[in-house]
Amino acid sequence: MPSILNSESVANILHQIQSEISLTIILLASVLLQVIAAIIAARQIIEIKNNYRFAWACVCLGLIFMVERRLAPLWRLFEHGQASNMSDAIFGLVISIFMLVGNYGLRALFKNRELERLQLDEVVRNLEIFNKTLSFENEEKQKRAYELQITNKKLESSLLETITLARQLGEMRDFYTAGHEQSVGNLSEAIASELGVEKSIQDGIKVGGYLHDVGKIIVPIEILVKPTKLTIKEFELVKEHVEAGYNVLKDISFPWPVARMVLEHHERLDGSGYPHGLKGDEISIGGKIMAVADVVDSMSTNRPYRRGLGIESALSELKRGSGILYDKAVVDACIKLFNIKGYKLK
Ligand SMILES: [Fe+2]
Repeated sequence: MPSILNSESVANILHQIQSEISLTIILLASVLLQVIAAIIAARQIIEIKNNYRFAWACVCLGLIFMVERRLAPLWRLFEHGQASNMSDAIFGLVISIFMLVGNYGLRALFKNRELERLQLDEVVRNLEIFNKTLSFENEEKQKRAYELQITNKKLESSLLETITLARQLGEMRDFYTAGHEQSVGNLSEAIASELGVEKSIQDGIKVGGYLHDVGKIIVPIEILVKPTKLTIKEFELVKEHVEAGYNVLKDISFPWPVARMVLEHHERLDGSGYPHGLKGDEISIGGKIMAVADVVDSMSTNRPYRRGLGIESALSELKRGSGILYDKAVVDACIKLFNIKGYKLK
């Protein structure tokens, strides 16, 4: 009986067995990797709750399709005792590896996007909280500012009422100068406005005008209402009213330098005034304005020792003393008020 198993046949059989074993191992590896990829994809669908679900469903369908195609050689191996060719199996393995790697890549990508979205949501939430906090703080600030404004208005009103009271007490002593301080205060404010002085400083100059002769409280009433010319001694006593006024006002916490304005309202540019003989810009703008307003009102209205000389005489006196006794800009502003803008003493 001729031997059917010669060495060549044995070698062929062994080679075939070796090929089948290799093919089986590759197919099993391919199936294993695809199962892992499918599990990862399924987890993604469960874990990621957003619009990427549909994309993942497509990936899974693709995986199932590929698995079905790659399993076919394996089934043929078990059912018919033979596998498909080696290249087909290797192709399946390579596809499986790509699917697995791609799965991890997509997972990382989607997770990053999910993370970015969550971070963005967090930023938006924080911004909303910050915005609400800011709005609340703004409302509180506006409320406090409003309350402060009301308090300031009340304080301002109380201050003006107190100033008016002090002025009226002085006028009760000196009948002839009743209304003089109010008139000087109003004219001083108007001149300051004409000069373009800041509104808050205008208010201070007006208050200074209202109180400029408050120091006359130290002058005996007989001297204040004396119908004849004062003696030198009496005039020296009258001159002390500026320092007396300054001493009364210097410790009051006005928001303006009222005491200094009162002290300077009889100073003159050339140094001929009193009490300190200040010159030029040594005198404050308030002092310069009040000096002009005081002269205008004093000359225009009646005094115990003479009748009022009228506004024209007062303005002529200002023109004569402009730049010498009185500040030129202040004089010009005052004349403009009366001659052009029709200002009337009140
Ligand atoms: Fe005075």
